[in-house]
Amino acid sequence: MARHMSLNRKQVVVGTLGLVFLASLVVVAWVEGGKLRFQPKPEPIISSENEGCVACHTEKTPVIVQQWADSEHGQLGVGCIGCHQAEKTDVDAYRHEGALIATIVTPNDCARCHAQVAEEFQASHHAKAGDILNSLDNILGEVIEGVPAATNGCIQCHGSKVALLTDANGNVRKDDGGRPMFDPSTWPNSGMGRINLDGSLGSCSACHSRHTFSRAMARQPENCGKCHMGPDHPQIEIYNESKHGIAYAASSDEDMNLDAKKWVVGEDYFAAPTCATCHMSATRNLPVTHDVGDRISWTLRPKISKLLENHEERRSRMKDVCEACHSPGFTRGFYKQYDEAIHLYNDKYGGPSTTIMGMLKERGLISPDPFDDHIEWVYFELWHHEGRRARMGASMMGPDYTQWHGFYEVAKHFYFKFLPMAKELSEGDEVAMALIDSILASEEHAWLDGLSLEDRERLKAYYKERYGDE
Ligand code: HEC
Ligand code: HEC
Ligand code: HEC
Ligand code: HEC
Ligand code: HEC
Ligand code: HEC
Ligand code: HEC
Ligand code: HEC
Repeated sequence: MARHMSLNRKQVVVGTLGLVFLASLVVVAWVEGGKLRFQPKPEPIISSENEGCVACHTEKTPVIVQQWADSEHGQLGVGCIGCHQAEKTDVDAYRHEGALIATIVTPNDCARCHAQVAEEFQASHHAKAGDILNSLDNILGEVIEGVPAATNGCIQCHGSKVALLTDANGNVRKDDGGRPMFDPSTWPNSGMGRINLDGSLGSCSACHSRHTFSRAMARQPENCGKCHMGPDHPQIEIYNESKHGIAYAASSDEDMNLDAKKWVVGEDYFAAPTCATCHMSATRNLPVTHDVGDRISWTLRPKISKLLENHEERRSRMKDVCEACHSPGFTRGFYKQYDEAIHLYNDKYGGPSTTIMGMLKERGLISPDPFDDHIEWVYFELWHHEGRRARMGASMMGPDYTQWHGFYEVAKHFYFKFLPMAKELSEGDEVAMALIDSILASEEHAWLDGLSLEDRERLKAYYKERYGDE
């Protein structure tokens, strides 16, 4: 029996080689598949000063350590202290297991290694997103709705003004571990324009979630969609309904190549543009930018849209993105359609309604305070919700937002809510009435006088032919 079971040397060699070959096939298939969840990365580089942090936090917060270990930072040896180190002068610094650290890591900390990115970001509108305290929207949030509405709403997108708790003498309060205590209404917060204790603006983890800090995640449209959504700036919804969003949804991971270090549209991927492609990422001619305003020509946020400073250069940079995938003529045609939608909104609705509101205030027909007259709510939604949807839909090829969530609502509420209210408030005031009449006398509003007989007949004939209706 024993003799039959034993293998000779040749059999052992062949068998072992065979097993090695099979195992290598399995490994290749595993790595190639790429979808398996626990595809291990090489061990991270742990410098001696970080050994304690990593060892203890592997126990206390295992996911933070694992995310860091798999990240480019971990792989390259940028350790916990590399980011969390603090100066004695930092008001939020504390001794923690032998090192002086801070919990919050600001753009100034990242700037030690990413100076140019931090500089571009500081120059952008994103860095100023925390500056909303004096806005009309903030009166709505903090005063009319109530402060917790703003804490859990507004500032989770825009960014808080980070503050520490102080005692009656104005000294910073510390917890049992000797750590300065954050005012819990201001942190945790990863809003875009967070106003930090060191005076810097922003939180890089608004887009680069900790502790992976992955550029692949930042390039995905869902990343921007945390904030760019909803009734007053539905960019993610617009994108999803556009041909671009459809192409993205239909693409595979390999098509998009989101993990690649170099990510040039037309060289490293072709399937679809994401938000980052158009507003931030590299083209064959442009470098990556962290100033998201760099490629837009209009601002669509205010009551009446305006062209930005240097709008021509900004637009030519965006066209450079389009032209990786489209011809110059096609791109020009798009911009013509888009500009006309903005002019239509400005000239027919945004301009006249703003003029009428100014007049009502000036003549004392409504109070000077915001939101205490019904018409102010109607006007607010006209430009801030519906008017933006119409403009933003047109800017990013979302026809339903342009039309049914946009211009349709604008027209309905301008003609059948806003104007009747304005007329009622103006009753008995001849100057006010004359202004409204003069606005309505322009060509754009002539349809109010009724259709021509010819148009009416054509309409009837159309429905008769389609549905047999009378
Ligand atoms: C012996 C264990 C241990 C070591 C070593 C250690 N930590 Fe911690 N760390 C903790 C624990 C436990 C907490 C949670 C404390 C709490 O919230 O009460 C914590 C919390 C933190 C926090 C968050 C504090 C907050 O405000 O929520 C940071 C940041 C941090 N550690 C970084 C580090 C860094 C950097 C190092 C290396 C210098 C390090 N830790 C070393 C155990 C450790
Ligand atoms: C690339 C920079 C970077 C590195 C490296 C880094 N952190 Fe952080 N860490 C951050 C940022 C950013 C935050 C978010 C704090 C904020 O700004 O609100 C944070 C927050 C934390 C927090 C508190 C938040 C929470 O979810 O509990 C802990 C704890 C923490 N880090 C521990 C660690 C440990 C442990 C390591 C090393 C294994 C590490 N960090 C490495 C940037 C970094
Ligand atoms: C001590 C130096 C150092 C600090 C501090 C630092 N980084 Fe990095 N970071 C690096 C290096 C090195 C790389 C790899 C080279 C590169 O891509 O620039 C890197 C890469 C990155 C990447 C690309 C990662 C990827 O998946 O491709 C991002 C994003 C990033 N860092 C964000 C941050 C943010 C945000 C902060 C602050 C919270 C920060 N870094 C702090 C050194 C640092
Ligand atoms: C879901 C995230 C989110 C919430 C919640 C939110 N905002 Fe915004 N807000 C944004 C985005 C994104 C923009 C920029 C939209 C654009 O340019 O299309 C913006 C624009 C603004 C602007 C215009 C800034 C400018 O420069 O013209 C103000 C002011 C503002 N928000 C204040 C507020 C206030 C106050 C609240 C709470 C009542 C609030 N926001 C709630 C995401 C948000
Ligand atoms: C609005 C979202 C957003 C914010 C906020 C943001 N980033 Fe980025 N970041 C991106 C995107 C998208 C990329 C990938 C660009 C590309 O396609 O190569 C990126 C790439 C990077 C890279 C990789 C190097 C490069 O240029 O490609 C670094 C480093 C980086 N960011 C650091 C930071 C730092 C530091 C901050 C804060 C000062 C920050 N980012 C804030 C979206 C953001
Ligand atoms: C955490 C919330 C948040 C995220 C995530 C976010 N944004 Fe924003 N974004 C804002 C706010 C708030 C504003 C308005 C800032 C202001 O003017 O006060 C804004 C403004 C903008 C603007 C107008 C800039 C200008 O100069 O007028 C563009 C374009 C933009 N964001 C693109 C992006 C892209 C692309 C991404 C994803 C890569 C992104 N944003 C991710 C909150 C966010
Ligand atoms: C195919 C390219 C493309 C894609 C994809 C794209 N955008 Fe845009 N975006 C544009 C163009 C073009 C404009 C208008 C530029 C102008 O006015 O010249 C614009 C305008 C904007 C504005 C300015 C609104 C304002 O207040 O003035 C914001 C914010 C914005 N986009 C965010 C996003 C977000 C978030 C995504 C992804 C969900 C996205 N974009 C996807 C091309 C794109
Ligand atoms: C990565 C490639 C890519 C980039 C970059 C890109 N597009 Fe597109 N675009 C597409 C694809 C794919 C389609 C769908 C083509 C089709 O249906 O024939 C499309 C369709 C369109 C359409 C037709 C929309 C419709 O509903 O019929 C317009 C308009 C358009 N793009 C404009 C632009 C503009 C303007 C830019 C730059 C701001 C741009 N695109 C950037 C790939 C791209």
